[in-house]
Amino acid sequence: MTSTIFITGATDGIGRRTAESLAATGADLIIHGRTQAKLEPVIAALEAIPGHGRVQSLAAELSDLQAVRELATALEDTLGDRPLDVLLNNAGVFMTEAARSPQGHELTWAINHLTPALLCQLLLPSLRRSPTARCINVSSMVHKQGELRWDDFNFDGGFNDRAAYAQSKLAMVLFTIELARRLGDSGPIAVSLHPGVISTKLLVDGFKMQGRDSLDDGAATSIYLALLPAAELRPHAGGYFKRKQIDSVHPIAHDAQVCARLYERTCALLGVEPLSPR
Ligand SMILES: NC(=O)c1ccc[n+]([C@@H]2O[C@H](COP(=O)([O-])OP(=O)(O)OC[C@H]3O[C@@H](n4cnc5c(N)ncnc54)[C@H](OP(=O)(O)O)[C@@H]3O)[C@@H](O)[C@H]2O)c1
Repeated sequence: MTSTIFITGATDGIGRRTAESLAATGADLIIHGRTQAKLEPVIAALEAIPGHGRVQSLAAELSDLQAVRELATALEDTLGDRPLDVLLNNAGVFMTEAARSPQGHELTWAINHLTPALLCQLLLPSLRRSPTARCINVSSMVHKQGELRWDDFNFDGGFNDRAAYAQSKLAMVLFTIELARRLGDSGPIAVSLHPGVISTKLLVDGFKMQGRDSLDDGAATSIYLALLPAAELRPHAGGYFKRKQIDSVHPIAHDAQVCARLYERTCALLGVEPLSPR
């Protein structure tokens, strides 16, 4: 049966390459971009790939949690009664300056952590309609340098771009672990990953460095996790992958209480009902 895959940030970089490779498998794609104007050329490129499946698109500004809620609703409408097999939370930013979302969150925190977490929570009903569903969160190896500022997630005490990025990616890894724990042994599987170090605008303009991996390398682990049979992925639920393999995580990720606290705090910030602990 054809998979239906939703990819955020599919108009550039790793997300676009991931969409191109998945299109060639014949999967049905719903691609997200910031605007319809950015999506149009990507849709045309995907529809030119031999063997492509259905290509649909949704535009949304991901720094605005209200727009993210509307995106989730629009995605459900687009799906109709089809299940969502893969939620690929790929979009991300490296903010070089402090800025706030409409809800008052620092933008790195909002876009890299709160938004993918909200999509995971809101799209659970669509994911639960698929027997092989998975929620794949693109984090970064930089999460290992992260520190959670429990009293100042927004860096009110002074913005540091690298610390903000690392915190957001660490939060994503912890949220994924706890989400997977609470989802249990059946239903959607949550995992996170590091894609590699690739010369995209995030790396070049944000980190001010060049990558050592290709775009295909960057897309490879997301594609692997999207296509792996559920029975093979299930034992690794909550896992963090690099180069298609389980990799080590920040030591605090081994503390179940910290993961649960981060998950609960995130749900409280989002105003969503947390799944019950197991
Ligand atoms: N590149 C690396 O070396 C590297 C390493 C580790 C992890 N990652 C992670 O990999 C993921 C993909 O990054 P990339 O390197 O491919 O970056 P990229 O080329 O800058 O692409 C990011 C994508 O996310 C979209 N996006 C960003 N902010 C958005 C917003 N507020 N609203 C809507 N869409 C938004 C971008 O849209 P626009 O084109 O409109 O901006 C673009 O489609 C990110 O989560 C990143 O943190 C990358």
